[in-house]
Amino acid sequence: MSALLQFNAASAPQREPMTVADLDAVLGIENLVYEFPWTRGNFIDSLAAGYAAQVLRRADGELCAYCVTMTGVQEMHLLNLSVAPAWQHRGLGRGLLDALAADCRAADALWLWLEVRESNRRAREIYRQYGFEQVGWRRSYYPAAAGRREDACVLRLPTGGSRDALD
Ligand SMILES: CC(C)(COP(=O)(O)OP(=O)(O)OC[C@H]1O[C@@H](n2cnc3c(N)ncnc32)[C@H](O)[C@@H]1OP(=O)(O)O)[C@@H](O)C(=O)NCCC(=O)NCCS
Repeated sequence: MSALLQFNAASAPQREPMTVADLDAVLGIENLVYEFPWTRGNFIDSLAAGYAAQVLRRADGELCAYCVTMTGVQEMHLLNLSVAPAWQHRGLGRGLLDALAADCRAADALWLWLEVRESNRRAREIYRQYGFEQVGWRRSYYPAAAGRREDACVLRLPTGGSRDALD
């Protein structure tokens, strides 16, 4: 069952494509939840590149969460998944993962991939509970404090695609 069903039908935030008009609100969240946030340019480049970027928006217009994904051959790469602090732990992150996994199944994708900071224990635990497995590391992938770098854990979720499509 989708965690979005924790909300009643009238109040459940709806999934919509992200547009440039959303970027002030997106950056407001981005700057709250990350020590090293994406810049406006990162989001504009992602939209210009045709990456799938989506927001969860309430009926009153408040933007609660967003994600950015890149689609490859029989796989999807989750580049950014963020929930506004006031809306965390209410099922929105899981709801977006449910929606992305459904998109993967509809596209016959084999895997949903993502990277997460080694120090982001909360997100790593959420992904582990969701069914992602760690398959590797990207060393010194992220910027860190005092000019240092931090490793990324490379995770993937099997999404049920058929390998026959690659033959
Ligand atoms: C990580 C993040 C996207 C998760 O979204 P969320 O909406 O807060 O998570 P959910 O409410 O959907 O919770 C998902 C699961 O984790 C559990 N969980 C959520 N917050 C938790 C917490 N503080 N402690 C323990 N478990 C927690 C929930 O119980 C849920 O499990 P369940 O469905 O089995 O009950 C969100 O917290 C976030 O934006 N964090 C900051 C940015 C970030 O780190 N993004 C990920 C980068 S890779």
